Amino acid sequence: MPQYFGKLPTTAQPWSTIEPVESVQKDERSVQFKCGEAHLILSILAPNLIRVKMSPNGDFLPRRSWAVAKDDSEWPVVSFQHNQSGNNTEIETEQLKISVTKDSQISFFDKQGNAFACDANPSAGWRMGMTASWKKIAADEHFYGFGERTGFLDKLSQVKTNWTTDALDFGSLTDEMYQAIPFFIALRPGLAYGVFFNTTFWSCFDIGAEEPAILKMETRAPELDYYIIYGPEPSQILQTYCELTGKMPLPPKWALGYHQCRWSYESEIVVQNLTKEFRQRQIPCDVIHLDIDYMRGYRVFTWSPKRFPNYQNLLSNLAENGFKAVTIIDPGVKYEPEADYAVFDEGLQNDYFVRKADGQLFHGYVWPDKAVFPDFMRSDVRKWWGDWHKTLTDVGVSGIWCDMNEPALDDRPFGDPGNKIWFPFDAPQGDDNDRTNHAETHNLYGLMMAKSTSEGLEKHRHERSFVLTRSGYAGVQKWSSVWMGDNHSLWDHLEMSLPMLCNMGLSGVAFVGCDIGGFAGNATAELFARWMQVGMLYPLMRAHSAFSTARHEPWVFGEEVEKICREYIQLRYQLLPYIYTAFWEAATTGAPILRPLLYHYPNDLQTYHLYDQVFLGSAIMAAPIYRPGVEYRSVYLPEGVWFDWWTGERYQGSQHILAHAPLEKMPLYVRAGAVIPMMPVMQYVDQRPVDELTVKIYPGEGEFTFYEDDGKSFEYKTGNFATTTYKVFSENEKILVEIGAKQGNYTPPARQLIVQVIGVGEERFTDDGNARTLTF
Ligand code: NOJ
Repeated sequence: MPQYFGKLPTTAQPWSTIEPVESVQKDERSVQFKCGEAHLILSILAPNLIRVKMSPNGDFLPRRSWAVAKDDSEWPVVSFQHNQSGNNTEIETEQLKISVTKDSQISFFDKQGNAFACDANPSAGWRMGMTASWKKIAADEHFYGFGERTGFLDKLSQVKTNWTTDALDFGSLTDEMYQAIPFFIALRPGLAYGVFFNTTFWSCFDIGAEEPAILKMETRAPELDYYIIYGPEPSQILQTYCELTGKMPLPPKWALGYHQCRWSYESEIVVQNLTKEFRQRQIPCDVIHLDIDYMRGYRVFTWSPKRFPNYQNLLSNLAENGFKAVTIIDPGVKYEPEADYAVFDEGLQNDYFVRKADGQLFHGYVWPDKAVFPDFMRSDVRKWWGDWHKTLTDVGVSGIWCDMNEPALDDRPFGDPGNKIWFPFDAPQGDDNDRTNHAETHNLYGLMMAKSTSEGLEKHRHERSFVLTRSGYAGVQKWSSVWMGDNHSLWDHLEMSLPMLCNMGLSGVAFVGCDIGGFAGNATAELFARWMQVGMLYPLMRAHSAFSTARHEPWVFGEEVEKICREYIQLRYQLLPYIYTAFWEAATTGAPILRPLLYHYPNDLQTYHLYDQVFLGSAIMAAPIYRPGVEYRSVYLPEGVWFDWWTGERYQGSQHILAHAPLEKMPLYVRAGAVIPMMPVMQYVDQRPVDELTVKIYPGEGEFTFYEDDGKSFEYKTGNFATTTYKVFSENEKILVEIGAKQGNYTPPARQLIVQVIGVGEERFTDDGNARTLTF
């Protein structure tokens, strides 16, 4: 077996392709086709959701679909029409028509008769245990999502492989990344659809690279399995996709604050000093991350007695000062027989570590040198690992950062020039009744580690916790937030962070961030200032820097940059009520938090390649600066009316303007009709009750539902939350703001409400939760 599974040359044998339809059968959820030896099944799961499965020999594997949160049988039965004319079949739902020709070619049509996701010729095939599907790319189609990807937004004419990899030193040409999410959205004016390629084996999308206008989806799985999700807009696709693969739970509100990280804040004294700096300098911060040096010799679930002798003290000190601690955990457990290292001993005794096909314990080399790896595919192992987190939560750790879980390992002691390896592909993994091997589970390693962590924290912490993972697969949003791994302190990495995070959002993963300042290398003052501005928009706002690089805290670049960092972090905190509402939207509808403009303007071709302007939530649009020495940039304002965030100046949309952006300014705009709830600056979330809520209203027409809950408990799941709907409109040359009565059980702290209509005036009153209409 070659070392790089993903690079195995596959031209050796031609594809066998599916034969014409011989017979058709139908049941209440699906239509089944016999096509020579092959079998094809179309399951109608919702009016806009169709699952397609094809097996070359008619045997469908007892496929475990780890990403899918809702099995076929869990979707309510939908009625569909089925017309048969010879061996040509037509299926019709409320939203779609699907045709399967006698040549076994599948096409989809919207109600206007526009075709999409149409099979090419050949349509489906197989060779050497692999399967593939070929589809036509429409002339004006563009492609987004694909999980974690470098480069710009649209992936047309590229090849995107789904194979989790430690993508150290990634750049715009890197293909395999830490995350493998085989999902994309195809968009053209008036029509968008999503495809989730439901395979955890190595898979690959060729989006018109080998053959223009042909999309090839290929996997090293013995059968094809994909879902077509019709929009027609990206928002509806994401809603259905997140119903299919699971929704993000609401994180604790403090996780939306500013996070400071470094590899490493290497001792408790360093951490204490760091936190003092934040408070003395009045730079808001909620979370401190502890990287690998807090452990004893990189042994997971231990503390270094030398560097962190009084870690309990440290953690209670942090808590007193309003900081939460997040500790890193790697999957590699130090191989250490007879050394009283309980994690290793227990894992070995219970046979929790991955073994090779011959039964020998598998090992590789990571931070603790020789290491063994828990089989997170097993439920007992996940529970065991999850329970180990109690040792951390008991002393006050509030979140876990899962690293190196692609899994990343070397074949030689760490530090030697070793080779990156994978577990052997035939290494057995999984529960006894669900056993498979690493070829099928590789892409799931990070996902299952995150699941184990999230479940462990939920069990032992009794309130919402924070989980961050480097690796993952489709559905990772259910268990964790994600950061984009080891970026560099380079301007082009700052630039790339926007399309990267937007494509993650379009892949169902809303809680994402990149390391502010860049992980590898040394940021300049200017780069750091610009990065902090952009970082304020990241759903996860964390600065991080690598071992042996210069420090990347807000104050190390001199007064001017410190002031800029303070102001943008403060703005982040002021916007938390608005941002938290965007998190709620993500948790309930799958909407991204950071959105490319095409998400809101899918019929505006100007937005299709616009990667350097983003929406934070539905109302605020940023046009950041990401080049040195640049003080002006072009900004595209889509149709409608826009306001400059800083000056209140009003602009007509459907035009490009030139924004002036000296170092202290990131151009920000707001849509007409927007409603933006804001709170006073605090040094950390919940420093004191929000006794003053300012709601900024931008003249125009709009509606906004503001979401609130206690920000920490799970009670929102059982109804302890509140929503308030604001409507903005004009009547007789007056601006009316209709505030609906507060809905729901949650009672926010007593507060003054200040309703500010930009450029017009404001009203201030005690918020009693009752409906009222204000006229300006
Ligand atoms: C690799 C991670 O990507 C990085 O963020 C971390 O600092 C190092 N591992 C050390 O733990």
